Amino acid sequence: MAEATLFVHDLKASVSPGGHGPLRGRDLGDLRVQSPASLAVSGDVILAVGPPGEVLREHPPGPDCVTLDGRGAVALPGLVDCHAHPAFLGDRAAEFELRSGGASYEEIHASGGGILSTVEATRRGGEEELASAVGRHLGWMLEHGTLTAEAKSGYGLDRETEIKSLSAIAAAAEGSPLDVSPTFLGAHTVPPEFDSAVEYVEFVVDKVLPEAAPMARQADVFLERGSFGAPEARRYLRACQKQGLGLRLHADQFSERGAIPLAIELGARSVDHLENTGEEGARLLAGSDVAAVLLPACGLFLDLPLPPARALADGGAIVALATDFNPGSSFTESLPLAMNLACTRLGLSPAEALTACTANAAHVLDLPNVGRLAPGYQADVLLLDAPDWRHLAYHLGGDRFAAKVKAGRLVS
Ligand code: NIG
Ligand code: FE
Repeated sequence: MAEATLFVHDLKASVSPGGHGPLRGRDLGDLRVQSPASLAVSGDVILAVGPPGEVLREHPPGPDCVTLDGRGAVALPGLVDCHAHPAFLGDRAAEFELRSGGASYEEIHASGGGILSTVEATRRGGEEELASAVGRHLGWMLEHGTLTAEAKSGYGLDRETEIKSLSAIAAAAEGSPLDVSPTFLGAHTVPPEFDSAVEYVEFVVDKVLPEAAPMARQADVFLERGSFGAPEARRYLRACQKQGLGLRLHADQFSERGAIPLAIELGARSVDHLENTGEEGARLLAGSDVAAVLLPACGLFLDLPLPPARALADGGAIVALATDFNPGSSFTESLPLAMNLACTRLGLSPAEALTACTANAAHVLDLPNVGRLAPGYQADVLLLDAPDWRHLAYHLGGDRFAAKVKAGRLVS
């Protein structure tokens, strides 16, 4: 009988994706609901979630136990943002205004603005300034219930600034309660010093990847007209895979260019965006082990077509949900907002949306012990101050938390 070091008693309910590993098909919305519930933690691991009397009997609070009153609250797993770009300086408010007047994201990109304007600002700043920006962005995410986040580089696109970005991410992670999973997005777009995508990819693979790989867990590429085609993406991703990095692709955001077959060929972890994925691509993806990461806040921000979310979910895809937090195409750090949009615009149920940004998002980041309230999982717990867990998606912009516990420690 293990004693608890943190004990949450008499919750209205605890709600978590069931099973283990990624959930798909009929199981995507398979939640375990326990009402009422208590939750016992030892160190950074969940001991038990269950009926209050039983949990108290089996895992009584130890002498220095932190005790939280769960009455009136619902416990949920900490949210996992599996697609985010927090390593940038500057902003794109002027570009936002241009877009409000009718300019398109792709036009702005083609004329040297967009991603490249953030690259310029990020190159100009020092590492400390960048680390403090990343830390500020992680703090914003925490406010909305994100306890684990991806952090992509990709606004450097030269050796010095890509390494500076990954160092800044590591420094910010050190000072943040969140777990941060660094991703090397060395192939975000082609910087102005290079004449072609082919030349730039050779440079990244030879001169940046060897130093960047040990600082990252995954690698990502923007496979899109105006950035990289499938052959360059394959060359870059294969080289990253050889260095032990998991593979991610920005895919089918504006046009289909073979990203899904390439991701399947390489055994990538995920393809992300999918706003222009057609029927055949959706079918292929749903039948594969490559996760489909949906980014509905980006779709809203840029007024993109809706991705085939229902076809993917019904076809059995590993569906995940993320913010795509970045200054240009999705300036929001709120996963509850992404959940609301998944329900109101993409046809996911609240239960499917919850799995998509907890257990399935953890799978995308290759973090198998995160994303569930179940014995043995890392104790990342949100106490939602609401009468029903669905308020997390339903109360648009109104996510209110009574407490947040990260790895067994009360963080707010
Ligand atoms: O996921 N599409 C490419 N990358 C980001 C946008 C980056 C930016 O606009 O700064 C995205 O949408
Ligand atoms: Fe992105």
